[in-house]
Amino acid sequence: MRLAVNIDHIATLRQARKGHEPEPLAAAVLAELAGAQGITVHLRGDRRHIQDRDVELLQKTISTRLNVEMAATGEMASIAARIKPFQVTLVPERPQELTTEGGLDVIAHATEIDAFITQMHNSAVQVSIFLDPELDQVQKATSVGADAIEINTGRYAEASGAQAMRELERIREAARAGAAAGIEVLAGHGLNYVNVIPIAAIQEIVELNIGHSIVSRASLVGMDRAVRDMVALLSR
Ligand code: PXP
Repeated sequence: MRLAVNIDHIATLRQARKGHEPEPLAAAVLAELAGAQGITVHLRGDRRHIQDRDVELLQKTISTRLNVEMAATGEMASIAARIKPFQVTLVPERPQELTTEGGLDVIAHATEIDAFITQMHNSAVQVSIFLDPELDQVQKATSVGADAIEINTGRYAEASGAQAMRELERIREAARAGAAAGIEVLAGHGLNYVNVIPIAAIQEIVELNIGHSIVSRASLVGMDRAVRDMVALLSR
């Protein structure tokens, strides 16, 4: 299973002083050297952490795949068409939210998502859609032409006991449905070094996007160690 490291919170720390350190590009290169197979950033409308220059520099510099999470807006479409990352992941965005709160409702926003995907494909950018583990959402993502889905593991991560087991089963079913439909299946949100284990065992999921727990561990033991520890848990 591939690991893509989300480095948004390196930029959060930098933006706390609006200065130059820590440099997200340096974090990305260290993550790659430690075995990450991709780098993910979320370019938010309010630019609270990642800035346009970060996306530009990452795309020019990293040797793995750059995945940029964004809302399906005209502004973001033109940035993606100009910078051309490997992949864009469409996410819902609420200005006051602390972090992404749930999956994108592909059914409710099918027309605009369809148009966004066409624009991205014209620029040779692959599109993934972050969605909740619901079969009708997976089906709609396939029919609007997404290249991949990223299953939201947030509710699983917040649950415990029997509720966590139920959420895990929903993720398994959504992953199976996505793989059966021929779409690439990714997952992420709220995963850490403990709750990742059952997710890593789901064969249909080919990549995880993990940010907060890796950057938190990196702040104490270093990026190299934090990424290597997670890569070891995902090897199968
Ligand atoms: N996937 C998506 C779509 C996200 O928005 C985020 C958070 O930016 C993540 C994965 C990573 O979540 P976490 O930081 O909790 O690992």
